[in-house]
Amino acid sequence: METLRTQVLIVGAGPSGLMLGQLLHKAGIDNLIVERQNGDYVLGRIRAGVLEQTTVDLLDEAGVGARMHAEGLLHGGFELAFEGQRHRIDLQALTAGKAVMVYGQTEVTRDLMEARAAAGLQTLYEANDVSLQGFDGDTPSARFKLAGKEIEVRCDFIAGCDGYHGVSRASVPEGAIQSFEKVYPFGWLGLLSDTPPVSHELIYGRHERGFTLCSMRSQTRSRYYLQVPLTDHVGDWSDARFWDELRRRLDPETAAQLVTGPSLEKSIAPLRSFVAEPMRFGRLFLAGDAAHIVPPTGAKGLNLAASDVYYLWQALSEHYRERSRAGIEHYSARCLSRIWKAERFSWWFTSLMHNFNNEPAIDAKLHRSELEYLISSPAAQTVMAENYVGLPW
Ligand code: APR
Ligand code: PHB
Repeated sequence: METLRTQVLIVGAGPSGLMLGQLLHKAGIDNLIVERQNGDYVLGRIRAGVLEQTTVDLLDEAGVGARMHAEGLLHGGFELAFEGQRHRIDLQALTAGKAVMVYGQTEVTRDLMEARAAAGLQTLYEANDVSLQGFDGDTPSARFKLAGKEIEVRCDFIAGCDGYHGVSRASVPEGAIQSFEKVYPFGWLGLLSDTPPVSHELIYGRHERGFTLCSMRSQTRSRYYLQVPLTDHVGDWSDARFWDELRRRLDPETAAQLVTGPSLEKSIAPLRSFVAEPMRFGRLFLAGDAAHIVPPTGAKGLNLAASDVYYLWQALSEHYRERSRAGIEHYSARCLSRIWKAERFSWWFTSLMHNFNNEPAIDAKLHRSELEYLISSPAAQTVMAENYVGLPW
């Protein structure tokens, strides 16, 4: 067995692991990433594309902001559509000038991968059977197989950035962790196409046939979503059926503007709210999707991963620089305070905009009334805008 040594072992080369690796490197902290998949697989996952200002700032801090600033789109508002009308939420006016950056997670990941390679930092892809040991004491380590060879990595800390299905959370003894979960009775069918977006801002729509989202990746690439039953398969949805269904759910004016084209990608994602507490077990930290999932309405997933990474980077920097344990001790509580607020917002926005099967008639009436209140009340819009642009860290 070959033995390697690093200060921080990061499990998972998704956005959380890559961001953390870059920030630790800048702080002079040695790190190694082990990833189960290969790089192309990681880049093939299409996810949301709305970055809060604090996430943009963290990517700048990590030294990977150049392409985002050149190609990303700053959005000062978005629209809510229901009953044939579109209503703008003016983020900038409601939050004293804040905006969001529309830039795909795939691009964020690509920029981080390139920066890591340019800095000569090591990522061990296609690492199989990763297991974690000793994190409840002072000598944590990981073992895995790489091209048939057994490898052990000894380290000071392990960062579990390995997503919802990862090994890190699963390595914690059952009694030491508590999880909270809600599964929604529908999914999002997403379609990516090289067509100009139907509008220059995002449109979140409530409709009796189901929720729609009109989003984008650039001025020439669109991303659309339809609420679909969980029993549907991607194969049930030809491009033509997708576009027809989207048109039916949009108001006539927007539908007339819609430019359609062949799909580059189509997939169905389930919707889930999930939080695991706490997020630290001795020398093992969980960050990003390994510890929490939000439904995608409001695009908080990547932004929450960024705030976890920020707190962890601060904690580990303090530890190595000042031998202080304060950041490490407070890591879990700091993360969870922000996570629960984003969980609440994502659950609320999801509940407001989707059709729930067999929903009592009164619930549909209450959601409609809430939407009416929202579009008529600057106070309600301010609450929504403050959450959408992101709560402070
Ligand atoms: N060993 C090594 N790597 C693993 C293992 C394992 N046992 N299990 C999972 N991984 C890898 C996955 O292959 C994946 O590349 O960990 C990585 C986790 O990446 P993500 O799932 O993208 O999670 P994270 O980096 O926290 O990103 C959060 O992703 O789902 C979105 O909305 C979410 O935008 C947010 C972001
Ligand atoms: C996306 O573009 O994929 C997207 C945008 C906003 C959301 C969710 C997803 O709220």
